[in-house]
Amino acid sequence: MSQTRLPDGFIAELKDRLRLSDIVGRKVKLKRQGKAFVGLSPFTSEKTPSFYVHDTEGFFKCFSSGLGGDAIKFIQETERLSFMDAVEKLADEVGMALPKATPESRAVYDKRQRLYAACEEAALFFTASLHDQSGHIARKYLEKRGLEAASWARHRLGYAPDEWRSLITHLTQKGFSQSEIIEAGLAVSKPGQSAPYDRFRGRLIFPIADIKGRVIAFGGRALEPDAKPKYLNSSDTELFHKSQVLYRYKQAREAYGGSSASGLIVCEGYMDAIALSEAGFDHAVAPLGTALTEAQLGLVWRAGSEPILCFDGDAAGLNAAYRSIDRALPLLEPGKSLFFALMPQGLDPDDVLRLQGIKAMSGLLEASLSLCDLLWQRERDREALNTPERQAGLEQRLNQAVQSIQHAQVKSAYQRDLRERMRTHFWQKNRGLKAKSETHSLRSQAKLRGLGLIAYAIDNPGLIEEGYELLAAVTLPDKDVEHIRNCIFDILHADLPLDRKAVSTHLKQSGQIRALKLLQSYPHAPLIRPDEPEARDWLIALQQQTALGNAAQGSVITANMSGSESTLAWKRLHKRVAERQALKQRLHDADKASSDPD
Ligand code: UTP
Ligand code: MN
Repeated sequence: MSQTRLPDGFIAELKDRLRLSDIVGRKVKLKRQGKAFVGLSPFTSEKTPSFYVHDTEGFFKCFSSGLGGDAIKFIQETERLSFMDAVEKLADEVGMALPKATPESRAVYDKRQRLYAACEEAALFFTASLHDQSGHIARKYLEKRGLEAASWARHRLGYAPDEWRSLITHLTQKGFSQSEIIEAGLAVSKPGQSAPYDRFRGRLIFPIADIKGRVIAFGGRALEPDAKPKYLNSSDTELFHKSQVLYRYKQAREAYGGSSASGLIVCEGYMDAIALSEAGFDHAVAPLGTALTEAQLGLVWRAGSEPILCFDGDAAGLNAAYRSIDRALPLLEPGKSLFFALMPQGLDPDDVLRLQGIKAMSGLLEASLSLCDLLWQRERDREALNTPERQAGLEQRLNQAVQSIQHAQVKSAYQRDLRERMRTHFWQKNRGLKAKSETHSLRSQAKLRGLGLIAYAIDNPGLIEEGYELLAAVTLPDKDVEHIRNCIFDILHADLPLDRKAVSTHLKQSGQIRALKLLQSYPHAPLIRPDEPEARDWLIALQQQTALGNAAQGSVITANMSGSESTLAWKRLHKRVAERQALKQRLHDADKASSDPD
């Protein structure tokens, strides 16, 4: 942006022309309260309104976040715009032109306006061509890729007819000069060649817009599988500097404003950004065929502080992700970072969405790695770390990377974090493994015992009367066992008879197939009457299960679990039940043997 200084009085006049409550009212539901308006803070998730707007004074105050200020500040905060961008946005709304400084810049301004107009006219021409006869092949291509006409319009997709001068002819008719058409990057003129010709011919067209949504360039995709190049972009022009623009930036940023994401999604291709947007990830952008530049990173961070970069999971994609680490390190600030979502081998986000669906994509985004995770992984995996020299090498590489971080606090936080990772990786490796295996065995003990206690209850509903509350509250360190337990209560609450069949049906209906299989793996318990000692053991074991469960979840360190009464109760119960089962089986076998002829 060229305007850096505003004339005196400009801001005052701008604020004069707006009503703060109108601006705020678009984002916050306001109620009048005396002279002020009050509503729920747009900056926090408060339940009682403590956000005030004073129209006459032109300022807002948010008591839950402490933020306050004028209309410009409000736009800056809610839309994450710079001061100048917020001013420009508001000025636009009230019809105030941002002042131009000098006569030369007036000429420059006028020329740029002509180039914008040429690009916009070209976009209209391309979208019209997509719908006329010549666009048949592009329409077929888009349908084949699963994009419907509504999406073509949403992304302003177009088609450049396979002719040498169709766009030039059209723009000339619209009053643009040859040099304007060339300077807008729409036609190519080679020295020594007679006449300029259209840059885009026989291609599917993606309009590329600036941060305000004005078309400034185009990307064109070849429609035949092996045409070269696959994608052709406008050359750089006065309006378009490819390294400073992101595809879909304006739409993505607007969508991001209303989402709960912590930053934009950055993918590699136009089609990826479109597929993401169509799948509901409307805050997706793409650079234009190059690795993310510093300027583009700046744009991404201006929208949200923790963007997710998507990369193909193959070696090339991983290397690209690794390279963006180095670009980002010097620029990190508290709370401002990058996350990395690695796609399955050989797939881009468009493929993932088409082949695996939206859920799979969400899963990949949720599983994204932090920059520090990926830095650690990159250096750790560079070579085997089986000698002290190599271990020292790792430390040196990590230090070197950390040295490039400019921000002092972030730098020391990285030092701490990476030192800790090295410590656990080398010196505490054994200890770590041991602790892990201890909780692991405790966990599977607790899971099995929990499952047993619950299976006994299902097979002997009479037990539950005494143990109703205990059973409802018992800690089960396993989700599936928990599902089975919850099933019992669902069935009891519905006043249905409780047995294996009822539980199995319920589990199946609620899609808990793993839990179903788990339950099926546990043998049917024989009859336990409520007045038998086994019933008492069941209650005690259930009581103690919570202690075991908590220990397995690592929340409470209990004394030696294996010596306590709980274990005795459980073991006794388990042993008796097993004996009865064996007895039942023997009787059954004998029965069968006597009735079977052979
Ligand atoms: P890809 O080849 O990964 O494209 O290039 P894609 O988006 O998956 O495209 P489809 O699915 O085959 O249609 C990623 C990006 O790299 C740039 C384009 O911006 C493209 O979107 N690119 C690619 C070029 O600029 N030129 C090329 O020849 C190829
Ligand atoms: Mn693709």
